[in-house]
Order: sequence, then structure tokens, then C-alpha cells
Amino acid sequence: MAATDKPVEKFRKDYKPSPYLISTVHLDFQLNEESTLVQSKLRIVPNHAESSPVSLFLNGHADVVLESIRVNGADLEASHYAADAQGLTIKSGLPSGEWDLEIATRIKPQENTSLEGLYRSGGMFCSQCEAEGFRHITYFLDRPDVMAKYTSRIEADKAKYPVLLSNGNLVDQGDLEGGRHFTVWEDPFVKPCYLFALVAGDLAVQEDTFRTMSGKDVALRIYTDAHNTSKVAFAMQSLKRAMKWDEETFGLEYDLDLFNIVAVDDFNMGAMENKSLNLFNSRLVLATPDTATDADFGRIEGVVGHEYFHNWTGNRVTCRDWFQLTLKEGLTVYRDQEFSADLNSRGVKRVEDVARLRAAQFPEDAGPLAHAIRPDSVIKMDNFYTATVYEKGAEVVRLYEALLGRAGFRAGLDLYFARHDGGAVTCDDFRAAMADASGADLGGLEGWYARAGTPRVEVGVEHDAGAGTLTVTATQAPPVLTAREGGVTTAGQAMLRQAVLRLEHQRQTWVFERVPARPVPSVLRGFSAPVRLTFKAHALALPDLAELVPEVPGADPLLLHHVREAAARALAAALRPELERAARDNSDPPGAPYEFEAGACARRALKNAALGALARLGGEGVTQDLLARFRAATNMTDEAAALAALDRIGGKVRQEALDAFYAKWKHEPLVLLKWIAMQAASNLPGNTAAVRTLMQHEAVKLSNPNTCYSLFLAFARSPVNFHAADGSGYEFMADSVLQIDQINHQVAARMVGVFNSWRNYDAERGALMTAALRRMASANGISANVYEIVTKALP
Ligand code: ARG
Ligand code: ZN
Repeated sequence: MAATDKPVEKFRKDYKPSPYLISTVHLDFQLNEESTLVQSKLRIVPNHAESSPVSLFLNGHADVVLESIRVNGADLEASHYAADAQGLTIKSGLPSGEWDLEIATRIKPQENTSLEGLYRSGGMFCSQCEAEGFRHITYFLDRPDVMAKYTSRIEADKAKYPVLLSNGNLVDQGDLEGGRHFTVWEDPFVKPCYLFALVAGDLAVQEDTFRTMSGKDVALRIYTDAHNTSKVAFAMQSLKRAMKWDEETFGLEYDLDLFNIVAVDDFNMGAMENKSLNLFNSRLVLATPDTATDADFGRIEGVVGHEYFHNWTGNRVTCRDWFQLTLKEGLTVYRDQEFSADLNSRGVKRVEDVARLRAAQFPEDAGPLAHAIRPDSVIKMDNFYTATVYEKGAEVVRLYEALLGRAGFRAGLDLYFARHDGGAVTCDDFRAAMADASGADLGGLEGWYARAGTPRVEVGVEHDAGAGTLTVTATQAPPVLTAREGGVTTAGQAMLRQAVLRLEHQRQTWVFERVPARPVPSVLRGFSAPVRLTFKAHALALPDLAELVPEVPGADPLLLHHVREAAARALAAALRPELERAARDNSDPPGAPYEFEAGACARRALKNAALGALARLGGEGVTQDLLARFRAATNMTDEAAALAALDRIGGKVRQEALDAFYAKWKHEPLVLLKWIAMQAASNLPGNTAAVRTLMQHEAVKLSNPNTCYSLFLAFARSPVNFHAADGSGYEFMADSVLQIDQINHQVAARMVGVFNSWRNYDAERGALMTAALRRMASANGISANVYEIVTKALP
């Protein structure tokens, strides 16, 4: 265990307001190649709600070297303070009332491979402070309920770093001696330090403007490496649509004169909503039809929306403490889901979201890391950016909408902003605003915040032809307030009756009158997928292995895989003429332009699902057709799908296609992620050795999180190789976790997650997986991130 990173469990119930607040922050960054000097001047304000404190503790990190410390302009004597790897304590010599604290620290961003705090990616300096990254930059009250006004000055070499950005408005800039220059940024809104951002680099910019509903022009800028400027048009269009949608849907207007997005290659997560300076993983900004698939475009639109929507749900109103993370994430996911639904096909979007919930969140909620959307205890907050906090959190927000209706939901949100703008609040504050605006009793929703696990709901329906009544009975365990639109249709016909069923007890009954013929009930509408034309591609897919495994106690993943493959092959053989027709009828004529549009996406999805199924049948005709499609493809959706189908055929054509793909795309790292993932996930027997070899390939950079996810998380999806009966797949994965943990704790912790499901498998595999977990747990120097996941997964 690294002594600097002691795994300490923190509890939600222990929350206490900070004894000190900070009203203003002046930061000064001297960026240099060897190290960076950070000077911060903080206006410290005692939090009078608390009894008078004697000492002040500021969070820090082992990477931060203290250079000097001054109180009200005078050097503080060494006897008054102590600094260690956890932080800086000012034990004595504190003035009363408000006072100025000046701290100078030195950090080395170029050695920072954890990608939290200030670090280098490519040739630029960039930052990631959520959740607790700011303490890697300077000593600070690194908690979201300490909100201050920031002024940031950045100084760097002008030739190497012509672009210097931070939050808020640019208020000053100029040239300095020795080829250096500076900018000064002022953010007029109070914010917690996790929303601070800094970027310095040689970046190209694409500009646009948006006129807000009150007539203000906002400058929109997307910064990338010069060779990627041609790939930001779609992200820019998504941003403008998001701004408009938030005005129309929630009356929420942007609040500054500029909005910046910067694409960063080395980024742990998807993106980050720093005030007016969003930082994005490159893969969620850069897209052209020939380099990105329909799914990539959809994700970009959703995430650009998500980060923009955080400006109100997250930034203007933030979280009091990190246990409340779902307050901003669940709500903002709900908002981005609605945004994508309004822009595309609402039905398809809902099917995708529910499929993701079932595939990722349900297993998490049934596994060793199950937690409520508002967790009770945490070791490393970064481990809690989960499907539960995000996606289940969004479903809980959807419950408010179902219970209150659209107008009631909007009224609740309006009251939430009226009450809490500029504040750091809790999930209870959100529920109170929702309830108070509508007078509804929402106490029954508390259970969703307090308990982990997926409640089971069973619905029974009885039709009495004589009386003309339909009785719907629902039972649930454990009881919690749920509401779903329910309805009844006559078979194959239009909706007869629709109602919101409010379920809050263990057993409830509803009686519908005047229902003459036996109807088809459709409860949980919008949660289950009604199959219509646009759903055909989804209907073609068999359930994922990840969804099948939990259904089979003591599953042998290999056996299940072979059974699933055989079923898929039999299905393809039986449906061959239909599949051939679907592939033919939905193919674009040569030269047709690519369009990211719901109908076109649905046609491509159906065609490619049909081709994937036909590939299972193999044969010369299918192979030649796929090769021709692979070579002629004019968009990445079709090209990647053809490659995946050829991968399924295997043998010489597979290798030739992979080689051709590499030769064509070797200068596009984002496209190569697909190439890496496809090889890593292969079910060719003995592929583990090939993946070890792939790790040495020049396209594989293990310091890049995207590469690790494409390599290792994809490998773990291979039942044949990850779950090899001799344990070699688990060995490889454990070795890799320990190797990556030396570089990046957050990425390594995500990789450990693939062992969480060990209880679902047969005894032999369960034993091998727990042995791998034990080996990681007892390795020297593991991070607190990995420690938390490993120890919770072990019995
Ligand atoms: N707030 C970001 C988002 O959802 C996620 C940042 C998470 N970062 C982290 N290191 N845990 O948009
Ligand atoms: Zn978010």
C-alpha cells in the first residue's frame, strides 16, 4: 500500500459543515517544462454556524511540494503548520475574522500519469479536478460545499502554448519577457474547486455563436489539435441544439458570453463540465462519417448535451457532499436522455437506455459492489461514478416525472433553482422542491436513495367478461414508491385505456371498468420494448452473455457461449432468406451521402445486424459479399460492421481485413481503438497470447485510458479467453491490473470490476477468479482505488 494513499472509509452520516469557507481564490500558474509553480491567495472566512475552530486543515497530496505560506501578508513560522501527504494543517497563529492565506506549491504535471489534478496530454497542459483532483494542484478545502469566486492567471511559453484557458471571462492578457505570455480569467459565478479547469497548448479552434432566448450572443469554441479541426462540426451542432433544447424544455439559458470545449486524448472518463470550459475525451468530440459510427455520433450528441446541461444541474446548483453525486448525475443523465429522445427516435432511445440499465446496472446492483444511488460509505469517490449513480439515478428522476407529470416536474425543477441557485445541496432538497411545488407526497421515494438492489414487481391481470372489468394486481418486494404508465390494448390494436399506476405498497389492485373484450395489458410502458418497425435491429439481437449469465446459477460461461452461438447460427440458418432481403433492401445505393438521422441509422443497424447473422453461416458467397462491402464502405458504421462480420468468419480473410484496416487508419488513434477492441475481444482459442503481443504494438499506449479500456475491458468480454478453464485469462487480467495501477489508479480500478461477477460462475471458475482477486489484494503498493474494489469483491 502506498503510504500516501491510505484506504480510509468515509461515511455519509459523518457529514459536518466546513469550519472555514473561502470567499475568493486568486490562482497564479507559472507553467514550465520541468515543474509548475502554483501560487494561490485565499480569502478565508470562518463559518460562524460552527463553534470557533482552532486549526485549519487543507487537503493536499504527496505530489504537492509546499514552497511558502503567508498569513495576511507575513510569512508563517514553521512551528505554526505541518504538511504531509494528506494535507496541510495550520495549527496555530490563525487570525480571527476574515484573513488572507497565500500558499505557493510546486507540482510536476509532466510526471502525473494518474490524469487527476494538472497533467500533460500530448503537448498540452490540462486538468481534471472532479472528484478530488484539485488537492493534487494546491492545498485547499477540496469539498463541493466550499464555493468561491475564482480569478486565474496563467503564464507560459508563448510559442509552445499560444492558447491559455481557464473558467469564466478573459479579463487580461499580454506578452512577457523571454518569449512568455499570460492570460487572466475571472469567473463571476461561485463554484467548488472540482469545477476549476486550466488548459495550455498549441490548439486550433473552431468557432460559432449562439443567440440565447434573451438575445445574448454566446461565442462557442471547440479546441483540438490542428489536424483534427475538420472533425468538430457535429459536436458544435450538438452543442447549439443542446442550448436551444434546454431553453425550450426547461427555460434554462446559458449564463456567460463564451463556452469552450477542449478535446483531450488522455482522459480517464467521458467528459467534464468545468464552468464554461468543458474538457472532453477526444473520442466524444471528434467525428466524421468515415471515422465514427452511428453509435459514436449518438454518444457525442448525448455527452455534449450532458456536459452542457450540467451548467444548471451541477454547476449553478451543486452537491453538498460527494455522497449526493446522483443529485447532479442522475438528473443530468435524465436530461441528456430526454434531449436525445427529442432529437432522434424516442422509442429507440428508450430501448437502448433500458438495455444498458439491464446489462450494466442490474448486475452491479446484484453484485458485491451494490450501492444505493446515494451511497452510505466510500473509500475512493472515483469508484462511485457508476451505472447505479448515473443510470439508475436517472430512472429515479424519471419516476418524479411519471408521478408529477411533465408540468409538475417542470414546476418542481423551477422551484429547485429558485431555492438553491448558487448553493450546494442534497438529494433531500431536490425531493422537497419537487414535492412542495406540486403538493404531492413523495416520501415513498426515499427508499430509492437509501437501498441498493432491484425491486421485483409482479403484475397479474384478470378479465371478467360478464362484468366488463379488468383487474390489475401488482406485488413488489421490497415495497417502494414506483409509478409507470400502464395501459390496455385490444390485441394488435390501438390503446384502449391509459393511466399512471402509482405503486407504493407490497400489493395493490386497480380495476378498469367497461372493458368488454379480453385486452392485452401493457404495464411498465416505456420500460419494456414494444416492437415496431424501428426496433427490428434490436429485435434481431439475442440477449448478451452478460444478461444470460445471472439467469443461470453456477453458469459455465464457455458452455453458455457455445449454446448461444449455436442458437444464433440456427436462427440465422432458418431466417436466411429474410436476412438476405433485409441486407439487400436496407443497403444504400453507391455514393449515397451519410446522414446521422433516426431512419437512416435504423436502416444501417438492421442491415448490419443481418450481415452479422449471415456471417455465422459463412460460405464463399457471404464472405465475398462482406469483403466487397468492407472495401466499398464509405462510412465507419458500415466499415466497422463489415470488419466485425469478417472477424466472425475468421481465418485468412479476418487477418487480411484487420491488416487492411490498420494500414488505412494507422494515423487515426480513435479509429484504431475499434481495431484494438475487436482483436482483444476475439474468441479464437488461445487469443490471450495474441493480446499479450498486441500490448507491444506501436498503436498501443498503456498510459492512454481509452487504449486500456479497448484492450482489457474488451478482452474480459471474451468467454473463451477471459474465462479459459485453465485460469490463464484471469491471470493475464490480474497481471494487467497490477501493471496499469502503477500508471493510473482510476483505470486499474475499472479493470478490476470484471472480476465482480465471480459468484455467477461455476465453482472452478469462482475459485480461480477469487484467487486472482486475492493475488491483487496482497500485491505490494496497490492504490486505494484498486484496494476498495478488490476487497469488496472478495468473500
Ligand atoms: N462529472 C463528469 C460527468 O459525468 C464525470 C467526471 C468523473 N471523473 C472522475 N474522475 N471520477 O460528466
Ligand atoms: Zn455528468
